[in-house]
Amino acid sequence: MESRYEIGLGNHDDKTRKHALDDPIKFWEEQADNLFWFEKWISVLQWDPPFAKWFVGGKTNVSYNALDVIVKKTPDKLAIIWEGEDGNTRNITYKQLLEQVCRFSNVLKSLGVGKGDRITVYLPMIPELVVSLLACSRIGAIHTVIFSGFSSQSIRDRVDDSKSKIVITADGGRRRGTIIKLKETIDDAIRNFDFVQNVIVVENVKNIISYTKKDLKWGSLMSGSEIYCEPEKLDSAHPLYILYTSGTTGKPKGVLHGTGGYLTHIYSTFKWVFDIKQDDVYFCTADIGWVTGHSYIAYGPFLHGSTQVMYEGALDYPTPERIWQIVSKHRVTILYTTPTALRMFMKYGNDLPNSNDLSSLRLLGTVGEPINPEVWKWYFEIIGKSKCPIIDTWWQTETGGIMISPVPGLETIPLKPGSATRPIPGISIDVIDENGKRTRDGSKGYLVVTQPWPGMLLTLWNDDEKYKSVYWSKYHTMYYPGDFAIRDEDGYIWMLGRADDVLKIAGHRLGTAELESGFVSHKSVAEAAVCGIPHQIKGEVILAFIVLKEGVEPSSELKEELTNHIRKTIGSIATPDRMYFVSKLPKTRSGKIMRRLLKAVSTNEKIGDVSTLEDEATVDEIKFAFAYMQQSMENNTR
Ligand code: WTA
Repeated sequence: MESRYEIGLGNHDDKTRKHALDDPIKFWEEQADNLFWFEKWISVLQWDPPFAKWFVGGKTNVSYNALDVIVKKTPDKLAIIWEGEDGNTRNITYKQLLEQVCRFSNVLKSLGVGKGDRITVYLPMIPELVVSLLACSRIGAIHTVIFSGFSSQSIRDRVDDSKSKIVITADGGRRRGTIIKLKETIDDAIRNFDFVQNVIVVENVKNIISYTKKDLKWGSLMSGSEIYCEPEKLDSAHPLYILYTSGTTGKPKGVLHGTGGYLTHIYSTFKWVFDIKQDDVYFCTADIGWVTGHSYIAYGPFLHGSTQVMYEGALDYPTPERIWQIVSKHRVTILYTTPTALRMFMKYGNDLPNSNDLSSLRLLGTVGEPINPEVWKWYFEIIGKSKCPIIDTWWQTETGGIMISPVPGLETIPLKPGSATRPIPGISIDVIDENGKRTRDGSKGYLVVTQPWPGMLLTLWNDDEKYKSVYWSKYHTMYYPGDFAIRDEDGYIWMLGRADDVLKIAGHRLGTAELESGFVSHKSVAEAAVCGIPHQIKGEVILAFIVLKEGVEPSSELKEELTNHIRKTIGSIATPDRMYFVSKLPKTRSGKIMRRLLKAVSTNEKIGDVSTLEDEATVDEIKFAFAYMQQSMENNTR
């Protein structure tokens, strides 16, 4: 086991953990009491497995808690220090943010948006993105953000599934010195969608673009709008947002989060995990297109009246020093980033961080992928100068908020590089085997959540059946996140990556089935299989195996065409690292692609104990397929 690191922060108080264990319902009720409610709940939890309703009967509003409550105390405190990729900055106080949110809420209302209507948001990392989400939450509209790296086809599927009434986008976004044409992508995505009533366009880069009859300009709408908007008193279970995420089927799933439970989870975890103080400057490098940006940029920090840095562009642009310059310039105290980003910065050596003043930092977080102990130690020693604890946080889009992490705001515990430590108080987690039995300490098993928790998803949008089958059919009474893990003798959890067909490419979640159907939608492709293989920086990269249709000749031009095709159908994040043309795919008798075998061949693993490689195939079948794939891959590189 790794050597131990003590957290130097926080109060030592295991009373909270004990209390949470003894009476989790009462514990969460007390946490909900920290928030503002228009009407108090009648019961804390209505658990009709697998559907949970938290704080039933309670009425609240997320934007009221994030803005009005704070404005009463610290109206002139900075809510957002925004830095554009080109170096421009915009400072926004809580009072100004509330005003913007109210104005935009009124804009939406004037366009006929009401409670429960869906709003698609496809914006770069600019303050208008935060304003849009908070405004939706103020009037009870359901936002659905799409990461700006997704292509028009991916957007089309998501807008169609959510039947969004309004789409919010920009005339362009800045990325690595170029302008991303967001509006054109949206025009292409929503063509013939009559249910989309209007597209609101933020004039962000002042690009000359063409406008259609549906388009409205953000600036003129806002200037003609009233400065105050009464917040809706929303039921605790009222949906707050849909966030599409990849799973094991071809179509992305619309994860649906609610209001009161989610709010309680985010409020509490932000306080405990980041040990937040009034004078902190928090910087989360995630994009709001992913869940981290929802929970810990758009909501968590504002609920505590914190000041946060929001950055528009690439962290290594124009030089790999950019991230450290931002930390130094704005005196950032808490940095929350990804192992992929850290691996990239580590590669550039120590001179860049060392030549910037990082002395303001006091706490360092990571999220999204397992962090290798060497990277953990680099983060601890070189970035944190061995005085900042590393907070490795495990959670998912579906969990809404952090589930496993050190909690320096509550207790001091020794850290172990590479482990997310223990479940946060009030969260019940275990590691079990295929039969649902608790694994021995130190043995690999499946991570499960054994009790409902406040931030948990309500369901999948319009698909209760899929919600049940994806998360609740493996163990019935326990939530199955799809991750492998080990619990060690101290009760610490070590995450070992996905147990299902979901990839984590540079921390971004992509389903193999979604990628495969992307390839198959090309006219020359008969079948496709993808797998992820380890990569030094991105954690994992995509390998694609393609079976071409009869009569189609393999060529390097075709590879390029297929790469462009997948970028067009899914987005640039889906670009494969390598592609192989093969004449057939290795499959089990029931037709399942032997993905673990593909991975083993691709990483030059020895065939070894083949019987454990795939569940449904015989040893001979696997051996044969292995040799065949090895041969095919060699032929490809020749
Ligand atoms: C992985 C991101 C190891 C895991 C917030 C999970 C992690 C998936 C960690 C969810 C971590 C997230 N250590 N693995 N600290 N955090 N993961 O929905 O496989 O984009 O199931 O949410 O990321 O990805 P998602």
